[in-house]
Amino acid sequence: MVIKKAGDIKSSEITDRKTYLNRRQFMRGATLAGSVVATGFLYRQLLAPEPVLPTPTGKVAPDAQAAPKQWGLPGEEATPYQDITHYNNFYEFATDKYSVARTSQSLVTRPWTVSVEGLVNNPKVYDLDELLKLAPQEDRIYRHRCVEGWSMVIPWLGFSLSEVLKRAEPQGNARFVAFETVNDKKRNIPLTDALDWPYVEGLRLDEAMHPLATLASGIYGEALLPQNGAPIRLVLPWKYGYKSIKSVVRIKLVERMPPMTWNLAEPTLYGFYSNVNPKFAHRLRDQTAERRIGEYGKRETQMFNGYGDEVAQLYAGMDLNYYF
Ligand code: MTE
Repeated sequence: MVIKKAGDIKSSEITDRKTYLNRRQFMRGATLAGSVVATGFLYRQLLAPEPVLPTPTGKVAPDAQAAPKQWGLPGEEATPYQDITHYNNFYEFATDKYSVARTSQSLVTRPWTVSVEGLVNNPKVYDLDELLKLAPQEDRIYRHRCVEGWSMVIPWLGFSLSEVLKRAEPQGNARFVAFETVNDKKRNIPLTDALDWPYVEGLRLDEAMHPLATLASGIYGEALLPQNGAPIRLVLPWKYGYKSIKSVVRIKLVERMPPMTWNLAEPTLYGFYSNVNPKFAHRLRDQTAERRIGEYGKRETQMFNGYGDEVAQLYAGMDLNYYF
């Protein structure tokens, strides 16, 4: 993520790991021997064997080569399964992308409930199996753009969040939806000291009702692995990746704009809306281009990550450089 820190370091030159460490340094005033840390990190990257993990069904994980052609957007290949499942941000488990696949395997994902509550006529605590059957699971192939400047194309399996919300019957004064990630140490979540937990996120109710807002339970037709937010997560393809909260346990309809984790950590860097916007440089990072994982060079970043035809009307009249 883009991290606030002592102003002498250019964000464009900071790796994700270093960025994280610098942020913790800033926040805690602690000192770390940076070169030692960086060297240790490099050694780990070189020496650690890449774990190839079985999917929960025991089937061999598919990859983009073997997968049928429909796993891609027009003119864009789907990102290989191995990359989608081994280059992850899940700060509860680890702070570098390469170790999340290993450290998150401890996550206990059954039994699992998701509570839909707050300003609704029909609050309900769903058992996961019941929730997954609310609507047909669809293959939804979306671009996934992280504010750090990388992107993927991910073939999710899921359905619109609106399926859950409309059954809950939002009350007239419900204007926002707040989301919360599991936070229970009994589920073997190490909860690193990277952020304050639980991880929380929010949407305006009309954003949450948009058909592109997806509750995903799989990738490439296979159940989500822990590192991608098992057993159920949000996917918001027109927003920066950090809005797509993983391993959701609570969906609460509220009247006021709810807090979001990265905004709490760095209010001037991470706005509530966080729509992908190449014209708005976050204070520390230019957003005009992105590196598609698996490709050389960079692609131009598209407004709303290429989903403007679908979502732009949600923001009509808003200055998106102000409401970032
Ligand atoms: N959700 C939780 N609970 N914890 C996290 O650390 N990271 C976010 C988002 N959801 C995160 C999270 C960020 S920064 C990104 S870019 C995406 O998840 C990464 O999703 P992926 O690992 O499936 O690519």
